[in-house]
Amino acid sequence: MLFAGLITTWGAASSRWLIAPRVLGRRRHSVIGAARTVGLVGSVALLAGAGLVFWRQLRDFRDPLVPWGEDASVLLATDWGLSWRLTAIGALLALVAFVFAASDGRGSDLRRASWIVASALAGVMCAFPAFTGHAAGTEGLRWLSIPADILHVLAAGSWIGGLSFVLVAEFSERRRTGRGNALLAEVLPLFSQVALIAGAVLIGTGVLASWLHVASLDALVSTRYGRILLTKVGLVLVVLILGAVNWRVLTPRLWGVGGARPLRRNAMRELIIAHLVILVAALLVRTSPLEG
Ligand code: HEM
Repeated sequence: MLFAGLITTWGAASSRWLIAPRVLGRRRHSVIGAARTVGLVGSVALLAGAGLVFWRQLRDFRDPLVPWGEDASVLLATDWGLSWRLTAIGALLALVAFVFAASDGRGSDLRRASWIVASALAGVMCAFPAFTGHAAGTEGLRWLSIPADILHVLAAGSWIGGLSFVLVAEFSERRRTGRGNALLAEVLPLFSQVALIAGAVLIGTGVLASWLHVASLDALVSTRYGRILLTKVGLVLVVLILGAVNWRVLTPRLWGVGGARPLRRNAMRELIIAHLVILVAALLVRTSPLEG
């Protein structure tokens, strides 16, 4: 939930700045509105995820002889606790900023300032996993593992969070005008550019993280961590294939029989399997790379 919240919130921000400004006319307001909706949902998921992660950490940290409250304050005082507090406060502030980032009516300065605040917070919070996970634990190579991990989560956000944005933008356009093809025809090429770069960064930083955390090729099959990683890579291949079908087969057919429906369905499949990848990533970070 926390990872999905991070990826969705950053996806909203990167789509707002990388895609929306290149959309023409009235549709620009509608797509900024869609990015805001994705940002709101993402920051709520992030808050809920942060609460669940804290509960899990407290349960694992627990000393049965000590009152819960005492344990909680000790946990909050640790380095982990500091990263968690910053993320929880960041998620709350991002939620407020997305509320004010309305795409119509209110003064444009406030709107723009709210988007800048929400985007900055979304970006900074994508560093939380790097400082609380295995990346921070790679002795002597933190200068490499931490920035690579942050880039990995940001790239996942621009691609997978961006895909949520495209589907929400299409849905709100279809509700507004009855048809989503024209919006998809305009937005998809812009999104594909972002997704291609983000995909390359994601795979590059993923391979690097795999090299840093998996001791040998043999460990890919002989350790639990390696097997979870292979499962993740297998699912990522499915997401890549579905994405390629959207990009190369279904987008050119937008104006053909069935219109946007086949593409919408396939993009939904891509999004669901991408969230399975995020679930497996959450399992991965909870597994010691050294465990047999
Ligand atoms: C849709 C594609 C992908 C998504 C959404 C995704 C998502 C994530 C997330 C959220 C994390 C957690 C970051 C952390 O806690 O430090 C992560 C870590 C990781 N990912 Fe990915 N990832 C994707 C693709 C890949 C690929 C293609 C590879 C390998 C080639 C990969 C390998 C890793 C590794 C090794 C880690 C580090 C886990 C650890 O800290 O132990 N990922 N990924």
